[in-house]
Amino acid sequence: MEKSHENEHPIKAFGWAARDTSGVLSPLNFSRRVTGEKDVQFKVLYCGICHTDLHQIKNDWGITKYPIIPGHEIVGVVTEVGNKVDNFKVGEKIGVGYLVGSCRKCDNCANDLENYCPGLIMTANGTYSDGTITQGGYSDLMVVDEHFVVHWPENLPMEAAPLLCAGVTTYSPLKYFELDKPGMHIGVVGLGGLGHMAVKFAKAFGTKVTVISTSAGKKDEAIERLGADSFLVSRDPDQMQAARGSLDGIIDTVSAVHPISPLLNLLKTNGKLVMVGAPEKPLELPVFSLLAGRKLVAGSGTGGLKEMQEMVNFAAKHNITPDVEVVPMDYVNTALERLVKSDVKYRFVLDIGNTLNKS
Ligand SMILES: NC(=O)c1ccc[n+]([C@@H]2O[C@H](COP(=O)([O-])OP(=O)(O)OC[C@H]3O[C@@H](n4cnc5c(N)ncnc54)[C@H](OP(=O)(O)O)[C@@H]3O)[C@@H](O)[C@H]2O)c1
Ligand SMILES: [Zn+2]
Ligand SMILES: [Zn+2]
Repeated sequence: MEKSHENEHPIKAFGWAARDTSGVLSPLNFSRRVTGEKDVQFKVLYCGICHTDLHQIKNDWGITKYPIIPGHEIVGVVTEVGNKVDNFKVGEKIGVGYLVGSCRKCDNCANDLENYCPGLIMTANGTYSDGTITQGGYSDLMVVDEHFVVHWPENLPMEAAPLLCAGVTTYSPLKYFELDKPGMHIGVVGLGGLGHMAVKFAKAFGTKVTVISTSAGKKDEAIERLGADSFLVSRDPDQMQAARGSLDGIIDTVSAVHPISPLLNLLKTNGKLVMVGAPEKPLELPVFSLLAGRKLVAGSGTGGLKEMQEMVNFAAKHNITPDVEVVPMDYVNTALERLVKSDVKYRFVLDIGNTLNKS
């Protein structure tokens, strides 16, 4: 088997990596650093497959460094802690999301917004100050500074790992943009991994939820299984017209380029359209639709560590878990192909603990 010559460290590790833009993953031996004094070492048990993994392995955003081991919705169990680690113990269940490092000095870091630190280090495909490229959770073990690790509540199933990205990425803007007030009416665009979590959190906050989707076939499930109140097919102009001016806010999770004018028309005066999806090309900004009704278009990127912990605790308390299809490691390439076609309800989770075999 090919071995990565990047970033030689003392601890042997094993994962599945993409080598090029074909997006096909295959086994890779690599290495992890020795557990530092503030580090937590853990065995990965479950890792969600986020659409960002797909963007990264295909180099959609033009920043991928190969080989890349993706994965940033990670739940595991602690195997070793550094001698200055205060908050974690061997044997404890933990979670890691989209970031494993930040500068810890800037205003964002001081305000629990490590996710907006200019020195943010992504869990996969990020770069530490010594030049080491980070490798993500489609791997057997990880070593992460304790600041970037959250406690995994006992009553949350470990397969609920997608909370760590899809969860916090939708929870955070609903809170920050004050779209969490009971009685509000919230739209969720794109019913995939992020979208279905947005529906669940928005319902838990007591808001009315309308799903706006390209897939008419998702209507019954959106309403019956996920608890949405109504459903609009975004490509049906009559349905979109009938719902004009009805929403206080929209969380847009779409992964591809799409028109936002029809979405802005759904907003009430002062309504907010929050982009969390990350299409590879810029979208057109229809200014007239903004002026008519003092509307806001905003963005939001994952969450800080304090908020991640708050969100998993909230999910545990209110029994909010993602709907997942748990699959073995060697299914990953099929899972990625199905994700391209939006053929997953609503998140694949790799069973790393039981199926990442070196043979
Ligand atoms: N901001 C952040 O921090 C953050 C964090 C995680 C992910 N992301 C990004 O968020 C996006 C969604 O991630 P995900 O994991 O939820 O992906 P996903 O599971 O693939 O869901 C995306 C959904 O978007 C809709 N969609 C896909 N192609 C479309 C098109 N051409 N036009 C209109 N709708 C389309 C589909 O829903 P329907 O079938 O219902 O139309 C699809 O299920 C990705 O771009 C990802 O990189 C951002
Ligand atoms: Zn993600
Ligand atoms: Zn910082």
